[in-house]
Amino acid sequence: MIHSLDIILAKRDGHELTTEQIQHLVRTVVLYGEQQLATQRGEMPQPLAPNDRITEAQLGSLLMAIFQRGLTLRETADLTTAMRYSGETFDTQPLHTFSVDKHSTGGVGDKTSLLIAPIVAAAGLEGTPSISVPMISGRSLGHTGGTLDKLETIPSFNTQLSLPQMMQVLRDCHAVLVGQTPRLVPADRILYAMRDHTGTVESPYLICASIMSKKLAEDLNGLVLDVKVGSGAFMPTYEASKYLAELMVSTGEHSGTRTAALLTSMNEPLGRFSGNWVEVWECVDILQGRRHPMSADLITLSNALSGWMLYLAGKSASPEAGAQLADKLLRSGAAYKSWLQLVAAHGGDTSVFTDPVAFHRPTATCVLKARRDGYLVSMDCKQVGWAVQRLGAGRAKPGDAVSVHAGLESHAKIGDRLTAGQPIFTLYSEDESLLNEPYAMLEDTLAIEPHAPKLEPLIREVITSC
Ligand code: URA
Repeated sequence: MIHSLDIILAKRDGHELTTEQIQHLVRTVVLYGEQQLATQRGEMPQPLAPNDRITEAQLGSLLMAIFQRGLTLRETADLTTAMRYSGETFDTQPLHTFSVDKHSTGGVGDKTSLLIAPIVAAAGLEGTPSISVPMISGRSLGHTGGTLDKLETIPSFNTQLSLPQMMQVLRDCHAVLVGQTPRLVPADRILYAMRDHTGTVESPYLICASIMSKKLAEDLNGLVLDVKVGSGAFMPTYEASKYLAELMVSTGEHSGTRTAALLTSMNEPLGRFSGNWVEVWECVDILQGRRHPMSADLITLSNALSGWMLYLAGKSASPEAGAQLADKLLRSGAAYKSWLQLVAAHGGDTSVFTDPVAFHRPTATCVLKARRDGYLVSMDCKQVGWAVQRLGAGRAKPGDAVSVHAGLESHAKIGDRLTAGQPIFTLYSEDESLLNEPYAMLEDTLAIEPHAPKLEPLIREVITSC
């Protein structure tokens, strides 16, 4: 018989856990979550057999043991698989399509999902193989924005679909953009919340199992990971991001999902805008055929990630040819047609796209200008992300509403030559009193120097065996 304490002792002492121990652990985590939910609802929890029980203290202790000792590749794969099957999962087999998704580890102004879903869906409509993109997205986390918060700025857009509704949208539109349901990967919901207050979030093994269990529950044939590196990334160093990327690729491949990870630069906000509606507006602009110079990096990255998805799906002979196809679908308006269909299928009001600028209604704004002549050399992108959150785009605590119109417009990129007085950022808020702190944070983080910096490529490295 397996007991929770034996698993804790084994990991504490640096031993490798067996597959059965890991499966037992995840089962007890789910039972623990069910007991918590029953208590919250004021119901009497079902009595559990002694070896099915795990206490909050034991869970915290086990997470810390994993944080300190790490997991082997086999343990990480076992944990991911057990979490993936801890609740409901998608079944994409009846669709007879190649199902493929993209996941980003999180960044500032990172809105590629809003372009990739319609681009790949548009490609999936034509010829064989047919493709579907079952995208489960998240809300803002720390200094980073969340796709669901951005989508919900579109009037009436519903991100909370039931599993049958998701499958219907996927069937009709070849893509769906939804949030995690309470029954999808419940083990992650419980472990993630526990990690948040036990100082165990930054373990690459736990991050890998958390992300990959949710992605693999989408029943994917292919997965492209955008692993951020730089001052706006969650992982502190290039090496740490690369290690996480390798772990996720090997876990994906182990489960039979063709997986590629792109290590991409997050040293400054991606594209022109960071926030909620402003990011939707930027994407709608691109989908409608406009190409603002500040959006160039966003278009390049979205095409590259779409290109990898199309390559994995067998739609193109190489990722580069896939990126060209993605760009063609953007320019031809095919991706915009898919976007309109997708938004309508989620109940969203597409009339706001007729004049996205008119829908942008911040009540307070100010402009941050260059103090002197010189090159924009660097910024702390995490600090920029926090400034965006404090303008109102993020939430102070779970459940808070986010501001639709708060955000930041970038007027310069790292490497640009500036003259004193030239605008660098425009700040938008719905509350005048929220402008001062972000303004000071942004001013603090910008470095303007006499010499041009060495520029890093947007895509630093690709990790894959595909
Ligand atoms: N995103 C997730 O879904 N899980 C993590 O652990 C970190 C980022």
